[in-house]
Amino acid sequence: MDKLIVRGGNRLSGTIPISGAKNAALTLIPCALLTEEAVTLRNLPRLADIDGFQHLMTQFGVSHTIPGKRPEEFGRNVTLEAMRITSSVAPYDLVRKMRASILVLGPLLARTGEATVSLPGGCAIGNRPIDLHLKALEAFGAQIELAQGYVKASAPDSGLPGGDFDFPVVSVGATENAVMAAVLCNGTSVLRNAAREPEIVDLCNLLTAMGAEIEGVGTSELTIHGVKKLHGATYRVMPDRIEAGSYACAAAITGGEVMLQGADAGDMGSTLHALRNIGVEVETEKDGVKIAANGPLKAHNLTTAPFPGLATDMQAQLMSLLCKAEGTSILKETIFENRFMHVPELARMGADIETEGRTAIVRGPCELTGAEVMATDLRASMSLVIAGLAAQGETTVRRLYHLDRGYERLEEKLQLVGADIERVGDD
Ligand code: EPZ
Repeated sequence: MDKLIVRGGNRLSGTIPISGAKNAALTLIPCALLTEEAVTLRNLPRLADIDGFQHLMTQFGVSHTIPGKRPEEFGRNVTLEAMRITSSVAPYDLVRKMRASILVLGPLLARTGEATVSLPGGCAIGNRPIDLHLKALEAFGAQIELAQGYVKASAPDSGLPGGDFDFPVVSVGATENAVMAAVLCNGTSVLRNAAREPEIVDLCNLLTAMGAEIEGVGTSELTIHGVKKLHGATYRVMPDRIEAGSYACAAAITGGEVMLQGADAGDMGSTLHALRNIGVEVETEKDGVKIAANGPLKAHNLTTAPFPGLATDMQAQLMSLLCKAEGTSILKETIFENRFMHVPELARMGADIETEGRTAIVRGPCELTGAEVMATDLRASMSLVIAGLAAQGETTVRRLYHLDRGYERLEEKLQLVGADIERVGDD
């Protein structure tokens, strides 16, 4: 297994190209199941999770072609074609490797009238239930059965009638599954307290391009008028707002100045607001967002929340930045029950962080020193890299498979702006 060696102290300066959004791509790919025509997705990030999802899609008979692209370019275009669905079973050995596989449930059910998907199970940050996914599909008229670790969903012979569902808790994935099922229902469906993340807007934009009829896009109430068939489309995935926010923290912690090329400030409002409050200069430009940290960093309290609140996926990265801020910052994690696993690793680098339940108290500024650290989940891994960029000495980050799931060619992008970072084989 590879490891990253980060030698801290370099001030980052220059331009980082932002890739297509992982969490948008993971809900756009299964949309290909909803039509027998070709769906071409542009700007897909080259990530382990995207490869994994494409492999899963072949399980259902979906072909995918990847026209050649020069290797040095980021991203790639993929054409997916589900002319005929040859299986509606998503097996355990594929689903267990990537929880987002559960997002084939809604489209498979809508297209074929049935779907058998392994329960995804939990992960490091929480037990990640899917009860809301299932309740929404039941509200549309689906029959749901749980047996031998699988969800078996089936629709009436005449197809899913559709229906209304009020989400008791905002859920990105459950909203995505529900929308992908509703677009082919016989009637109209209304989702209330639906997630409003930009990735949901991206999903609705692709489905609309495929012929779906969706009202209220971008709001917490979505009205979906089912249509008989959807046609193919070509669609460019939105830029990754979490990748961009992560590199913004990396630039800021080094006192650097970096242009996040292709980032969309409109998707990053809460992160940019937090950075400004911490004393980071943020400028929105026509082709990206410029980050500069010339003055001292100031402590700031943060609470994660569903969009447009502060993204939980930015909590770990901002915590690393706040270790270098003057004063005490209180961070509250309201979305997942176990998303502070970066804390003990940051503490080994010299950070002064105390946790009480879902609250972390960060006392800064502290001198960070390089250490051997262990990544435990995707965003925790990134927070350790960010801390390493500002630490005295050398930080070794292991278990890079976490990072490779969410950050396209991370070390290359950081090298572009002067970071002393290299990937080496783990002896
Ligand atoms: C998506 O996960 C993202 N993943 C996560 O990003 C992100 O952290 C999360 O949304 C919140 O923004 C992808 O898009 C692939 P949820 P998801 O359903 O859909 C509870 C990353 O680092 N819940 O919005 O699984 C759940 O336990 C990843 O890129 C239920 O109770 O998140 C959590 O407390 C990590 N029942 C809360 O809702 C359900 O049926 C929000 O979860 C579903 C969720």
